Amino acid sequence: MSKSTRMTINNCVSFAVVLTSLWTLIRGDTEVSCVYKESCILPCSFQTNETVVIHWIQAAGDTPVHSYYYNQDQLDHQDRHFRGRTSLFKDQISRGNASLHLTGVKSQDQGRYTCFTSTISRNKNSTVDLKVEGSPRYIAAIVCAVSGSFFTLVVFICYYRKCKE
Ligand SMILES: *[C@@H]1O[C@H](CO)[C@@H](O)[C@H](O)[C@H]1NC(C)=O
Ligand SMILES: *[C@@H]1O[C@H](CO)[C@@H](O)[C@H](O)[C@H]1NC(C)=O
Ligand SMILES: *[C@@H]1O[C@H](CO)[C@@H](O)[C@H](O)[C@H]1NC(C)=O
Repeated sequence: MSKSTRMTINNCVSFAVVLTSLWTLIRGDTEVSCVYKESCILPCSFQTNETVVIHWIQAAGDTPVHSYYYNQDQLDHQDRHFRGRTSLFKDQISRGNASLHLTGVKSQDQGRYTCFTSTISRNKNSTVDLKVEGSPRYIAAIVCAVSGSFFTLVVFICYYRKCKE
């Protein structure tokens, strides 16, 4: 690969990374990287008042993840996918902390989450972008990309050599 080609590719990659980060920033999302099979905290805070209603929703499909009102967890409508894997920091709720603790992170957990908080005085929605690292799917994608580039490189070199002869 020539130096200028490599420069162009590098610039393209940097540009894509910058664009993605910018998009996340514009949407006002918080990005969280979670490790496959480990536990993870999705941050959310609100201005406290006497009572609070908290709803955590997975944005794609409006999936109910965790709800809390009347001073207790309300999990009747929780999606089966999240059963037994979510909790709030109960002792922190009165301090305006509605962060979600998610355990046994799966690759399907990846995506956007909305945290709705509602008190007598105000409502707030915030969004968290969850990225799952180290999942078999993620590793497969990397292996695929690396072997794909390697294959392209081999073809490219073969082609280049033949042309020169
Ligand atoms: C909420 O509390 C948990 C546990 O103490 C902490 O890890 C997290 O950073 C807190 N989040 C916010 C938004 O205050
Ligand atoms: C709770 O909300 C009420 C109604 O808006 C307000 O008068 C009160 O000051 C608030 N209390 C706190 C602790 O923020
Ligand atoms: C939060 O989202 C819900 C549902 O999309 C909407 O009804 C509500 O008005 C929103 N609240 C704020 C404060 O943005």
